[in-house]
Amino acid sequence: MKIVMALSGAFFVLYVLAHMYGNLKMFAGQEAFDSYAFHLRELGEPILPYEGALWLIRVALVGALFAHAGSAFYLWKRANEARRTRYAVKRAAAASLSSKTMRWGGVTLLLFLAFHLMQFTFHTFEVGGSFLGPYDRVYGAFQVWWVVAIYLAALGALGMHLKHGVWSAAQTLGLTSTPRAARHAKATAVATGVVVAGGFALPPLSILLGLI
Ligand code: HEM
Repeated sequence: MKIVMALSGAFFVLYVLAHMYGNLKMFAGQEAFDSYAFHLRELGEPILPYEGALWLIRVALVGALFAHAGSAFYLWKRANEARRTRYAVKRAAAASLSSKTMRWGGVTLLLFLAFHLMQFTFHTFEVGGSFLGPYDRVYGAFQVWWVVAIYLAALGALGMHLKHGVWSAAQTLGLTSTPRAARHAKATAVATGVVVAGGFALPPLSILLGLI
């Protein structure tokens, strides 16, 4: 189950890196961003139908989500059943804090994802006006300070989740067995969290501050 968590988590890391890179095209202007959003739908054509690659990615993401959350739930339940009585003194305070952060961080990210998809994919609501295209929609949304605040809070949770997650995955996959390997794994974990959270935060902050 830990290997399932590690592999599905690795897939999410690749996805968020690609998504973050795409979002940075906001800095290249409206035409570049809108044409990127359009070409995403043409990916793999003519071998795949229009939006075919996008749908493959969506199905893989939903599968990975079930695998990741399902194995997290299974491991949590097994750990709970292993000890029905509470410890008189809780020794692993640090480990338990980080696993609690993972659990609640994961739930926070799920709630954020629901909000995010309603906003940008399903267009259930539009903050800051009504928009014609992807650039317009992102630009309008991040003029609103509380939308930026929600994103920054979610990105904080994402950064921490990635840091803990990459480190745990490295342990599961046996990549921390020597002090040198452990140092590399820790550095990779911190860098992943900082790069992803920081890269995602750049467009909303720049829009709010009038830099885009
Ligand atoms: C500032 C941060 C972010 C911005 C500006 C942003 C922007 C967008 C936009 C514009 C779309 C719609 C794309 C389209 O339909 O062409 C989208 C979709 C999506 N975003 Fe984000 N996003 C951000 C952060 C995130 C994060 C942190 C995650 C994951 C944890 C995420 C996951 C997704 C997913 C799963 C989709 C649906 C893709 C699809 O199936 O069409 N996004 N995002």
